[in-house]
Amino acid sequence: MFPKKNQNCHLEIGHLIEWATLSLATNSSSPRLDAEVLMAEITHYPRSTVMAFPERMLSQSVGESFRALVELRGKGVSIAHLTGHKEFYSLDLKVSSNTLVPRPETEMLVDGVLSQTDPLQAASILDLGTGCGAIALAIKKQRPNCRVVAVDLSLEALRIAAENGCLLGLEIEWLCSRWLTSLGNYSFDFIVSNPPYVERGDVHLLSQELSYEPSLALDGGLDGLDSIREIIASIPNVLATGGMFFLEHGHQQALDVSKLLEEAGFSGVKTKNDLAGCDRMTLGKWL
Ligand SMILES: C[S@@+](CC[C@H](N)C(=O)[O-])C[C@H]1O[C@@H](n2cnc3c(N)ncnc32)[C@H](O)[C@@H]1O
Repeated sequence: MFPKKNQNCHLEIGHLIEWATLSLATNSSSPRLDAEVLMAEITHYPRSTVMAFPERMLSQSVGESFRALVELRGKGVSIAHLTGHKEFYSLDLKVSSNTLVPRPETEMLVDGVLSQTDPLQAASILDLGTGCGAIALAIKKQRPNCRVVAVDLSLEALRIAAENGCLLGLEIEWLCSRWLTSLGNYSFDFIVSNPPYVERGDVHLLSQELSYEPSLALDGGLDGLDSIREIIASIPNVLATGGMFFLEHGHQQALDVSKLLEEAGFSGVKTKNDLAGCDRMTLGKWL
């Protein structure tokens, strides 16, 4: 049980972590880790301190704030949405209810672009549907000579992305646009995108985990391919000859995506697996 008011002697970090671990046992696959991360967030101690000094005491009000976070976690709010940040490609990024929480598998897109560029090259790169800016910022960090443009339809997401850019001291051109419609005469050597690709009827959309993510980031229309079709139809207008396109998609969409790319005129179309062995990214070269 959570300690009652005035039982200050029970507001030990270790005691609260035990309580939270038990409370989250049925709703989280990592209850202890969640409890420690939330405790670190609320106390502003590193997680190692939280683990090493369980006897440290908290005030009643800090304890109550911890309890509120644990209860939200129990309702399915992600740790990233609760703490307001998430690590991606070793960058600490701010996230909000207007941005998708970047997933580890999306790092494949960054690896894909980095594998095709050398650090001294001044290539131009476009990130379509940037969310909190994860892909664009990770690439810019590794390839400072490259010009990176990042697009999103959500102004709220772009605000968070621009804040991340400022905090990390990375210069990106942020642009509010429905995919490529406001890009004018730009031309890019690489285009990378993690668009919304979940089928509208997919039961996962109703899961607790996804219900806290913005639907603009997830909803790919009836068959999940609406945004992917729109993007593939329009990128030949802005991708330089010999340029490459890297696209994240659902694990059952690789065949459809490859077909769309080949029909649009891309060559060398290839799908790569994520660490779980699922088809996750397809790439192609423009002519
Ligand atoms: C799956 S999220 C990816 C976010 C981020 N790139 C990542 O990998 O974590 C898709 C993003 O596409 C944006 N988006 C959805 N429809 C769009 C459109 N028509 N034009 C531009 N961006 C769009 C959403 O706002 C969202 O940020």
